[in-house]
Amino acid sequence: MLEAVRQWLSPETVLRSNEPLAKRTTLGVGGRARWYAEPASVEDLISLKHAAAETGLPVFFLGRGSNLLVMGGGIEVLVIRLQHRRWRQVDMLSDGCLRAGAGVRLRELCGEALRRGLAGLEFLEGIPGTVGGALRMNAGAMGGWMLEVVESVRLVNGQGGETVCRREDLHYGYRHCRELRDACALEAVLRPPGRAASEAIREVLHRHQEHRQATQPREPSAGCIFKNPDGDSAGRLIDHCGLKGTRVGDAEVSPVHGNFIINRGRATSGEVVDLVRRVRDGVWKHARVELEPEVLLLGAEWEDLL
Ligand code: EPU
Repeated sequence: MLEAVRQWLSPETVLRSNEPLAKRTTLGVGGRARWYAEPASVEDLISLKHAAAETGLPVFFLGRGSNLLVMGGGIEVLVIRLQHRRWRQVDMLSDGCLRAGAGVRLRELCGEALRRGLAGLEFLEGIPGTVGGALRMNAGAMGGWMLEVVESVRLVNGQGGETVCRREDLHYGYRHCRELRDACALEAVLRPPGRAASEAIREVLHRHQEHRQATQPREPSAGCIFKNPDGDSAGRLIDHCGLKGTRVGDAEVSPVHGNFIINRGRATSGEVVDLVRRVRDGVWKHARVELEPEVLLLGAEWEDLL
């Protein structure tokens, strides 16, 4: 069915089968997607989504591949990635807002804000994600949340309709947004909270970078594995329970920050899942806190694995 839709797609749209995913994630583990597409237009995106729905193939929207654990083997899924240049543009609007495509990397967005003297987006620098992924997960760091700086989001919803949601209409919280769960964000209009001299913005960026470098590992990882429980830090708990450095194969709880699982080289998704289980069990045994994974899983459901 996906093969049949190819003839209707623009020549710039990429459609491949059996695509290896490990190299498209920051953790670097996992198998292949049955289908993989990089649509060059909204029309192609919608056609692909419909074709997948007709064959009962689930669709997964992939961003920068952080905050994601891909299972091994072949995964019956259509992975869609907004990588074409039309999704990677940032424009300044006349009212002082920035319009950013879903494929724009957060680092590029921060660079653009810096050049234009727009302050308040600095917390996003250093999150290894795209605008689309950050919207879907309501990515956050240094006390800031992606959806707090959003004016509106253009998206293709679960039914395949294109629509614009204003921030007031979105139901979001810590690392989730109801309207974006099954949708594909196409672009967002962001309202930077203020203006400042480049030097002042650069100083904030440096402060965040220093904090990150001092407290987070450099090795490949998916970012924080667990959500922070109310009023505490999962990293602090894991550390407190003496679980840093625990290793299964090449997957290891980072000795730098307890909430990161790092890939020491040839880790597999099975090893990572095993380690997630061990850490979760350890924290439950020692601290009676049930940690919930933050990282999305592709190819299985956390509740079936934990
Ligand atoms: N801590 C420890 N040991 C550790 C890790 C942390 O004692 O191994 C302590 C720290 O000393 C600090 C407290 O726990 O007192 C909080 O640590 P940190 O500032 O590193 O923040 P976090 O709550 O662990 C959150 C986000 C990160 C984000 C940082 C910085 C979550 C799950 N994590 O981490 O986001 O970068 O704040 O703002 O919300 C992510 O979501 O993937 C992520 C990396």
